[in-house]
Amino acid sequence: MAPTDLRLDYAYCTADALGGVHGVARQRAVELSQSFIRVHAELERGRQEGRLGFWELPQTPAAELTAIKSQAERLRGLADNLVVLGIGGSALGATAVDMALNGIWRHSLPRRQDGMRLYVADNSDPRMFTSLLEGLDLKRTAFNVISKSGSTAETAAQFMVALDRLEQALGPEEARRRLVLTTDPVAGSLRPLATLQGFPSLPVPPNVGGRYSVLSAVGLLPLACAGHDIDALLAGAGRMAARCLAPEMTANPAYLFAALAVDFWRRGRNILVMMPYVSDLFGLAQWFAQLWAESLGKALNLKGETVNLGQTPVAAVGATDQHSQLQLYMEGPHDKLICFITLDNYGCDLEIPSLYPELDAMAYLGGRSLAELIQAEAKATAAALADQGRPSLSLRLPLLDEDALGQVIFLLEAATVAAGALLGIDPLDQPGVELSKKLTYGLMGRPGFDSFRQRLEELDLGQRFVL
Ligand code: PA5
Repeated sequence: MAPTDLRLDYAYCTADALGGVHGVARQRAVELSQSFIRVHAELERGRQEGRLGFWELPQTPAAELTAIKSQAERLRGLADNLVVLGIGGSALGATAVDMALNGIWRHSLPRRQDGMRLYVADNSDPRMFTSLLEGLDLKRTAFNVISKSGSTAETAAQFMVALDRLEQALGPEEARRRLVLTTDPVAGSLRPLATLQGFPSLPVPPNVGGRYSVLSAVGLLPLACAGHDIDALLAGAGRMAARCLAPEMTANPAYLFAALAVDFWRRGRNILVMMPYVSDLFGLAQWFAQLWAESLGKALNLKGETVNLGQTPVAAVGATDQHSQLQLYMEGPHDKLICFITLDNYGCDLEIPSLYPELDAMAYLGGRSLAELIQAEAKATAAALADQGRPSLSLRLPLLDEDALGQVIFLLEAATVAAGALLGIDPLDQPGVELSKKLTYGLMGRPGFDSFRQRLEELDLGQRFVL
């Protein structure tokens, strides 16, 4: 393995570390690895039939990348701010990568010279959107409307509000230049708008679903606008994609991650905590939470039998949540698997000065550094959990750059579809979110959805149980 490669450390999942009751014993590991003969064949078929479109994204043709980069270049010439209007899989990936690379304070610190400031307005909350529109100089702001289906109510509503505001500020022609639509190349309601009204647009590959789309134009345009190196992101993803083709579970990081998560879930660990020891990776933990939840939380298996399965993902941050969640992880129910993300190199460090040699509580820190401290905390927390029979694994990144992020993103996407295959469910659909969408359409008066309005009235118990 190259020094820049992500490593998956699973020592604290094994029976060697946790004992036979809590850990994965050798015999169990053998059984698990045998089940990957079927999983591998299914994923291979999915790749060949083009169902796993995300797998091809690291090899995006040069012409498509050039189109993305030239849109980014054009927008950077027009504006200082880019507002993404999208939700779920159309939003979380760009936030994750931009937060990872530009940091959690990125909106309150001076803007990078080589990139636009990126805002992801992923809600129909009027407070959030009003304060953004009023806070930004619209003449220096561009918008990227991202919706694969084109029918997402939150995004459609924000699009019309933003277009109206831009037209008022700049006139119709200038407004259109500042609004790029990223949507399905043929289907959906945004595509005809782009064609008929002349909005610049980029395609979302039809075989790539929202939560697997960060490495397509969905994530790449905003990230290129923000000044990130999208070639390096795809290069890291491509190297991980090659590793995730290995048929053996123990040689394939995606299979190993899926095997451990599913095995611990089957043994009662219903919660998967994603806990980077890097504040700037909180967005990545949230992106993963959507990926894991929406992909694996399913009522029916592929045979149509009711299974109601899923493992609840939780986003946490170390060392912060050692002082918030860790008590529960250490002593609460044995229902969690923790996945840490650690950095070998933080890319910067702060030496701690020896200011109080006479005070025990401070003297030992003098002359050490903040990176040493947080690395010691990650190590100590994993060991303390193991001491209590609590499993954890660690994704160890050499440093935090585009290449490493490409690797971790691809690994988690591949692990999610591998877990879906292992569980016998479809990790690419999301039938459970449809009913609330349709009830909303009914309430908001969308033609054809009257029956859902009636259904909502039947379900609504009014004020009878309101105190
Ligand atoms: O992962 C998914 O498929 C969803 O989270 C979608 O991304 C989300 O619902 C937004 O859909 P769309 O891009 O069609 O507006």
